[in-house]
Amino acid sequence: MTDQPLFKKAFPVKGDFASAGEASVKVKNILKDIGYDSGVIRRVAVATYEAEMNVVMYGGGGEIVMAVNADHVNIIIVDQGPGIPDIKQALVEGYSTATEEMREMGFGAGMGLPNIRKNSNEFTIDSEMGKGTRLDLVFRCGG
Ligand SMILES: Nc1ncnc2c1ncn2[C@@H]1O[C@H](COP(=O)(O)OP(=O)(O)OP(=O)(O)O)[C@@H](O)[C@H]1O
Ligand SMILES: [Mg+2]
Repeated sequence: MTDQPLFKKAFPVKGDFASAGEASVKVKNILKDIGYDSGVIRRVAVATYEAEMNVVMYGGGGEIVMAVNADHVNIIIVDQGPGIPDIKQALVEGYSTATEEMREMGFGAGMGLPNIRKNSNEFTIDSEMGKGTRLDLVFRCGG
């Protein structure tokens, strides 16, 4: 039997820059309101923001699902975008397919996925061409 999370909520992510970053702020604020482990809050905030921006920039919109448990937080980020052709390459620091426009906005350092991986205790990425991309992240208290 799997443990039920204490709290679970889904946040839609639109595929445009107008509301970009809003879902990860909501996730962070909920954890703050609960009074959750501050280290987890910081790591969740960094990783969720980076993942949300990738959904906005490459995924054409999607969803973030947060599940809060006593000693860890699960974050799932999904989109139905084009998918990532070479996941290994996408995880290399500095690799980016960001457009000139995105770079002018300060994105495209190719550090998002590496930072998501560094800030999470468990990192799983699944992507299928033409179907979309899914990140499964776990953030443990005291970890
Ligand atoms: N959800 C996604 N759907 C399709 N491609 C993606 C997705 N997320 C990442 N990618 C691809 O992986 C590359 C690396 O992503 P990463 O977040 O590390 O860097 P970036 O978004 O290009 O730059 P930064 O995050 O530093 O602003 C992207 O440039 C893009 O080609
Ligand atoms: Mg990125």
